[in-house]
Amino acid sequence: MSDNASPRLALPWFVRPEARAWRCEPAPAKARAFHSSLPDYARTPLTEVPSLAAELGVGRVFVKDESCRLGLPAFKALGASWAIHRVLAERAADGAGEDPVTLVTATDGNHGRAVARMARRLGQDAHVFVPQGVHPRAVAAIVAEQAKVTEVAGPYDEAVRLAAEEATAPGTVLVQDTAWPGYERIPGWIVEGYSTLCAEVDEQLTAEGVPAGPDLVSIPVGVGSLAQAVVTHYRSRPGGRAPALLSVEPEAAPCVLESLIAGEPVSVTTRPTIMAGLNCGAPSGIAWPRLRGGLDAAVAVADHDSARAAGDLAAAGVPSGPCGAAALAGLRAVLSGAGAGVRRTALGLGPDSVVVLLSTEGTAANPHSGPGHAPNG
Ligand SMILES: Cc1ncc(COP(=O)(O)O)c(C=O)c1O
Repeated sequence: MSDNASPRLALPWFVRPEARAWRCEPAPAKARAFHSSLPDYARTPLTEVPSLAAELGVGRVFVKDESCRLGLPAFKALGASWAIHRVLAERAADGAGEDPVTLVTATDGNHGRAVARMARRLGQDAHVFVPQGVHPRAVAAIVAEQAKVTEVAGPYDEAVRLAAEEATAPGTVLVQDTAWPGYERIPGWIVEGYSTLCAEVDEQLTAEGVPAGPDLVSIPVGVGSLAQAVVTHYRSRPGGRAPALLSVEPEAAPCVLESLIAGEPVSVTTRPTIMAGLNCGAPSGIAWPRLRGGLDAAVAVADHDSARAAGDLAAAGVPSGPCGAAALAGLRAVLSGAGAGVRRTALGLGPDSVVVLLSTEGTAANPHSGPGHAPNG
């Protein structure tokens, strides 16, 4: 455990409140203008849920609802669209010719579907590697985008390895939402694309009378690229509050939590989880320095907690899949049970605090129906 880590209390948890004082360079601002120029772009809702504020003992709770983003049921299209735009613009500038390129990727579901959608729209081809545990209907949604799909009899990291191998062939480009040494530029563009979500939250909170921004943002985390975008946004702002940033992962795949505890990036052996999009065994290489510096806290949650959170969000009018609902499940876990008072204090939360939960997918993204569901092998 690192010097700064809290001892484990009643749940798998890490805290480092010094993160609020950490600062980094901002992301380039171009992605927002690009997204705004897309014909089906619209800001996703930021829905206030007073009943959750009462339950969690804070002032206001807002849920960023990514159930319909650029026509798809998860936030991922923000990253895929911007990165593919950059890839194709670069190829055109290099005089790569008119032949379509094959965009190759691995996915737990949402990113691959977004890559396939963008490829189809732009007259390119897509080849998507899918690990075991992704629901057959999520696979069918990628096939429906006319992508070639290769199902891999192994976990996410194995699918990434095979996609990277495939993308060494001529006429292919790997569009992966995780980075490793030597493969960083395209994942960096994907992270830039996610910054649009944070910019929207700023505008929407201002319209809600909260111009200083939130006191806490809860983020569902797989490889940590979305969390990298969120850290970059809030830790590079010249003004406004520095909110506490909470990473939430499944107990079945807590690679960022374990890395923060170890003080260095580590790989974990993953197990099946209904939070399919978060089922990743290692943090992204370019995300790690930002997560280590700028995340305040990390927690891991069980499938039944995320399923319950999804039910409660649905009752509040937010259609949230298991990954999206993890944001609520994680904050609930932190603010309840043994040691809750210490954790609330560490996060700087009080009765007037403003919380934003990033509900990163809708129910249509990930058809796992509940903790009893056995993922396909
Ligand atoms: C719905 C959903 N939420 C959150 C995440 C986590 O994003 P990241 O892998 O960038 O941490 C994913 C990743 O696939 C996802 O599909």
